[in-house]
Amino acid sequence: MNRDEILTWLREEDPEKLQGLWTLADTARQQGVGDAVHLRGLIELSSHCVRSCAYCGLRCGRKPLSRYRMSPDEVVDCARQGIRLGYGTVVLQTGEDPGLRAPDVAEIVRRIKALPTESGVPLAVTLSLGERADDELALWKQAGANRYLLRFETSDPLLFARIHPSLPGRPSDRVAMLRRLRTLGYEIGSGVMVGIPGQAWGTLADDLLLFRELDLDMIGIGPYLPHPDTPLGRGDPGFGPLEPGQQVPSTAQMTCKAVAIARILCPQANIPSTTALATLDPDHGREDGLSRGANVVMPNLTPVRYREKYDIYPDKACLHETAETCAGCLRGRIEQLGRVVGSGQGGRMGTEACSSVAQIAVSG
Ligand code: 5AD
Ligand code: FES
Repeated sequence: MNRDEILTWLREEDPEKLQGLWTLADTARQQGVGDAVHLRGLIELSSHCVRSCAYCGLRCGRKPLSRYRMSPDEVVDCARQGIRLGYGTVVLQTGEDPGLRAPDVAEIVRRIKALPTESGVPLAVTLSLGERADDELALWKQAGANRYLLRFETSDPLLFARIHPSLPGRPSDRVAMLRRLRTLGYEIGSGVMVGIPGQAWGTLADDLLLFRELDLDMIGIGPYLPHPDTPLGRGDPGFGPLEPGQQVPSTAQMTCKAVAIARILCPQANIPSTTALATLDPDHGREDGLSRGANVVMPNLTPVRYREKYDIYPDKACLHETAETCAGCLRGRIEQLGRVVGSGQGGRMGTEACSSVAQIAVSG
């Protein structure tokens, strides 16, 4: 699929034609990663953040938000809960929190990797801790971490600089960091928000092509959801949308188109049906994602008492559901779709997640 074809699909509105895209994506998913849906338990262990991303409710400039950082024991308890619920992976996610010391993260990773599981296969550990130094990333890899998630958010460097200001003396280059993570031996994941103000059609097409160029193992795509306490959410001067006709809308359908195209470009990648999509469309979001290319869901393992403080965007799906409730609910939804819950770590399958030619389904 080339850039023009991607753009044509992104702009397609006819439901019958779109059915063709969903079918191509579902076939590519079936051929690339099979029918298993992997559950990754999300542990949001710290809401502290030193960055001021213009879209994110955890941004450090946002004073009234009370912050938390879980103790290592609390994090390991959440991981134990994940094992009890049958998950093969835990994802440790935070704001960018230098107060979370690298040796402490390494110790948490070691303790999680040492937890006994029924199958004898240890939990896979995915880190999503923001932009950290190379020696820290190497330390965590040695401690046993398997994967790292870092969304590049947009492939447009000007838009990125506007919505994701660098820290003084530390220019932000997420694509370079992803490449270093790969060299260190991590499976790498990235992604974008669909419909972020300033995102043009061509920008989203380039984002999708960059997924393939980076040969990502994991791709997270969710709709942009405005947070009223952020510059983008308020529409502050300089943070408004493009002219109508140029701006990509932040709809559930547009998100599904991006997920479907990502699947066709990267047949073997692990692609979640995101919580943001379920938030925007609580009735059908999770299912639509799964039947239009996704093969992963990320139920929340964070203790309910902390959830509201991890306020990236408003009205997050399943905010008050306990880990047990979500696990049961998701299993039911997956089976309803005629899919099966994956067992084991559910890591990258082939040698190349993203096909350089991407003919797998497009020719069919
Ligand atoms: N709407 C949707 N997604 C968001 N994220 C951050 N803020 C928002 C928002 N307002 C996404 C970013 C980040 C991930 C953890 O959450 O893409 O990388
Ligand atoms: Fe959380 Fe259904 S997925 S309650």
